[in-house]
Amino acid sequence: MDSREIEADLTEVLVTEQQIRDKLAELARRIEADYAGRDLLLVGVLKGAVMVMADLARELRSHVTMDWMAVSSYGAGTQSSGVVKILKDLDSDLSGRDVLIVEDIIDSGLTLSWLLGNLRSRGAASIEICALLRKPDAAKVEVDVKYLGFDIPNQFVVGYGLDYAEQYRNLRDVAILAPHVYS
Ligand code: PRP
Repeated sequence: MDSREIEADLTEVLVTEQQIRDKLAELARRIEADYAGRDLLLVGVLKGAVMVMADLARELRSHVTMDWMAVSSYGAGTQSSGVVKILKDLDSDLSGRDVLIVEDIIDSGLTLSWLLGNLRSRGAASIEICALLRKPDAAKVEVDVKYLGFDIPNQFVVGYGLDYAEQYRNLRDVAILAPHVYS
């Protein structure tokens, strides 16, 4: 789905499909260099990270393996509470592995902060984070992101994996959702 096709639902396109593609290529070159000769496991966090994972993995010019986790914040409301429940765990044993967590967005940072702690207890050789987007003004905890795409304003964004009520994930760009859609 293209932004032009749902223009009335959006106030601004923040990151275009082309900008995402270029940025993932740039990050992939760094990742290839940093992990040269090593056996990298990409861990995607469902569902938002599906698009980033698919495009980043295909951009890499070396073998990687992929695994997935699904987590959810406890509690109602739109804000992350920091209390996380594992809905689907990894299939892989992390012992001795080089792990790169792949995320679409760091908002409050609570999800990744919890996930890092959880994965660190599993004996990986290394754990780093790749996130396409980050909202610095929404941070409740600082998360050390090694591979970052774009810092964006603290607005309700959708597209490229990010949803509103499970829709808009298949939008090719990242855009600000118009308030009339959710208010
Ligand atoms: C989003 C996103 C991150 C998390 C970031 O997932 O994919 O996992 O929120 O927010 P935080 O930094 O405030 O913790 P969401 O819970 O919306 O699930 P989804 O990926 O299935 O849409």
